[in-house]
Amino acid sequence: MIIPTYNEAENIGSVVARVREAVPLADVLVADDNSPDGTGKLADELAAGDERVHVLHRKGKEGLGAAYLAGFRWGIERGYGVLVEMDADGSHQPEELPRLLTALKGADLVLGSRWVPGGRVVNWPRHRELLSRGGSTYSRMLLGVPIRDLTGGFRAFRAETLQGLGLDDVASQGYCFQVDLARRAVEAGFHVVEVPITFVERELGDSKMNRDIVVEALWRVTAWGVGGRAGRLLGRGPAGH
Ligand code: GDD
Ligand code: MN
Repeated sequence: MIIPTYNEAENIGSVVARVREAVPLADVLVADDNSPDGTGKLADELAAGDERVHVLHRKGKEGLGAAYLAGFRWGIERGYGVLVEMDADGSHQPEELPRLLTALKGADLVLGSRWVPGGRVVNWPRHRELLSRGGSTYSRMLLGVPIRDLTGGFRAFRAETLQGLGLDDVASQGYCFQVDLARRAVEAGFHVVEVPITFVERELGDSKMNRDIVVEALWRVTAWGVGGRAGRLLGRGPAGH
């Protein structure tokens, strides 16, 4: 279970406790970008008291994508067979993890999905819902990837799936990292399954979503879409990797 953190001091204790309770056999890796609010130190304290909790301290804020790439490497090096992405702020409910893991028995990648029947979002302002739904729809149509929730961050990967995605050339830094991995998985021919989740907006701390993250997502998704179409017209396989 890889949990990226930037200023999640108010949330890290409860999310780790809930994960340990929901899936007691899973190890937890907190990937902290040297949070000024001391999240990394709190995570160290949790790790000191629980051999299944680990901390990856990173130099500074480099974005969600870089934190996950480092976390995946950490886990693959140590031989974990399944790697899970999850937000630290309680939006992804640890109690839903067993459902994602069960679905992974018949899939290569399981996406927790807000936008399939049964999925939903609690307490999001209207503009956030529009941005997320719009982002997924734009990406789905442009990339031709048949997934309803392309930007979500509650996901279970088999290690072999991650190893088949060409992670060494992933440049996405912000939340478009999630779109990038999903499209790579579909293009590589992996079996990707969406499982409905209830996403609960955080009660404590602040979202790190900002204008730069939206702008990066827009230009990258557009470039992948145009590159993929040009490649297909020229008779090449899926481009943009
Ligand atoms: N290490 C690290 N570095 N962690 C980060 C960074 C970073 O630069 N930026 C964000 N995070 C962590 C946060 O601390 C949190 O645990 C998680 O990533 C998600 O960040 P939020 O800021 O809470 O995201 P959100 O609620 O606005 O966004 C949601 O929607 C996005 C777009 O759909 C989540 O579902 C995201 O996973 C999703 O991509
Ligand atoms: Mn959040």
